[in-house]
Amino acid sequence: MSHSTDSEPIGVIGTGYVGLVTAAGFAELGNDVWCIDIDEAKIKGLKNGRIPIWEPGLEELVERHRARLHFSTDLADALEHARLLFVAVGTPPTYSGDADLSAVHAVVEAMPASDRHALVMKSTVPVGTGATIKRLFAEQGKGGFSYVSCPEFLKEGSAVNDFLDPDRVVIGDDGDWAGDAVVGLYAPLEAPLVRTDIKSAEMVKLASNAFLATKISFINEIANVCEETGADVVEVAKGMGLDDRIGPKFLQAGIGFGGSCFPKDVTALKQLAGNSGYHFQLLNSVIEVNELQKRRVMAKLEKHLGSLVGKEIALLGLAFKPNTDDMREASSLVLSARLQAAGSRVRAYDPVAEEEARKLIRGVDFKASAVETVEGADAVVLVTEWAEFAALDFAELASSMRGSLVIDGRNFLDPSKVREAGLTYEGIGRPALKDREPAGTT
Ligand SMILES: NC(=O)c1ccc[n+]([C@@H]2O[C@H](COP(=O)([O-])OP(=O)(O)OC[C@H]3O[C@@H](n4cnc5c(N)ncnc54)[C@H](O)[C@@H]3O)[C@@H](O)[C@H]2O)c1
Repeated sequence: MSHSTDSEPIGVIGTGYVGLVTAAGFAELGNDVWCIDIDEAKIKGLKNGRIPIWEPGLEELVERHRARLHFSTDLADALEHARLLFVAVGTPPTYSGDADLSAVHAVVEAMPASDRHALVMKSTVPVGTGATIKRLFAEQGKGGFSYVSCPEFLKEGSAVNDFLDPDRVVIGDDGDWAGDAVVGLYAPLEAPLVRTDIKSAEMVKLASNAFLATKISFINEIANVCEETGADVVEVAKGMGLDDRIGPKFLQAGIGFGGSCFPKDVTALKQLAGNSGYHFQLLNSVIEVNELQKRRVMAKLEKHLGSLVGKEIALLGLAFKPNTDDMREASSLVLSARLQAAGSRVRAYDPVAEEEARKLIRGVDFKASAVETVEGADAVVLVTEWAEFAALDFAELASSMRGSLVIDGRNFLDPSKVREAGLTYEGIGRPALKDREPAGTT
């Protein structure tokens, strides 16, 4: 990676996961960045070096580039110093499943007439949003504003690395100065570049997330058939993933995908298709399979425990995936609610997501460690595959539990270790007891 010498100051509007990582990433590349957010507490915290999210490496990066990172609630600061204004505000789902673009539109409204600025859209938006914004600009006498679509593909938990070493950079533009400037900004990363029209760039983002979600729902359905037929989905996925047309990633069966992106982006693409008169049949199934998958744990628990009334259930992990404190659409939300509805008492532990979880989950007894959570439990459900759970001493856990059931919702634990401790292991799509241990893959 070569650092640019002639760096361009930029503005970033919205300092959440995407905005803050983008800002810190461009600061690392040598750019001055004016970060704007309407959340005064967040900006005040950032000015004092407080990072509002848990993301590996982010705090260090922000600290290292404090001199280049300027935080403000006043859009005028960014407009004064930067031509390119990256938009990274939230686009959550509405009740209809369409993306809520109110924050994006608030940013558009706030822009003054200008022929030296450009909006660079990082937020995930429906195809056609760029065209609508350009029309709005024209209607509001701001036709001089340029527009670039630059979708973001970072993954929470490895966001800093994903920014600095992306698989690709996608830039959709009208072939004007702004597109060239964004290409120049990303040039030091030496990443594969797809420069295209705005609508295609918007679709790359939605289609990529929909495809990955499809891959997860596919392997989850294979897992469910494995349960009926005695095959082991972990072995099956290994065998499939070595085919380089398929690849091993996103081929891990489990209790469903969650997070701030997949559920809403898949639904938004389904809605976008529907609004344009096309019934996206496959995506309907992807969503339905995912919803059902989150609930399959209930049947597994009932199979072993009978009625769940009064049962003590321990959840290990709450975040939608490891290495993040993001709880949006996490499978743990559905599971903890279903368990309580069935009369169980739920205790839970997550290494970092407790604070976020407390805002969304009711009635759960939060514990300070895995060991404490499991004590006296009838069953343990591994919900999030945090590395520390693989290192647990299952013999110690077994002696403190009331029951003996371990449901591995992410096929993350070593079944033999769990069984050697005298516990009953149930994964997702894995036979209850192996006919034979596999000889290995070599
Ligand atoms: N989180 C991810 O992993 C990820 C990955 C790729 C793309 N995206 C997309 O990026 C966008 C942002 O996602 P996020 O997870 O960073 O959201 P977020 O909720 O973490 O952050 C959004 C920020 O925007 C601020 N904001 C809202 N309205 C504003 C306004 N008018 N002016 C200034 N600031 C405003 C909010 O206060 C908040 O700090 C979404 O469209 C999302 O789909 C997210």
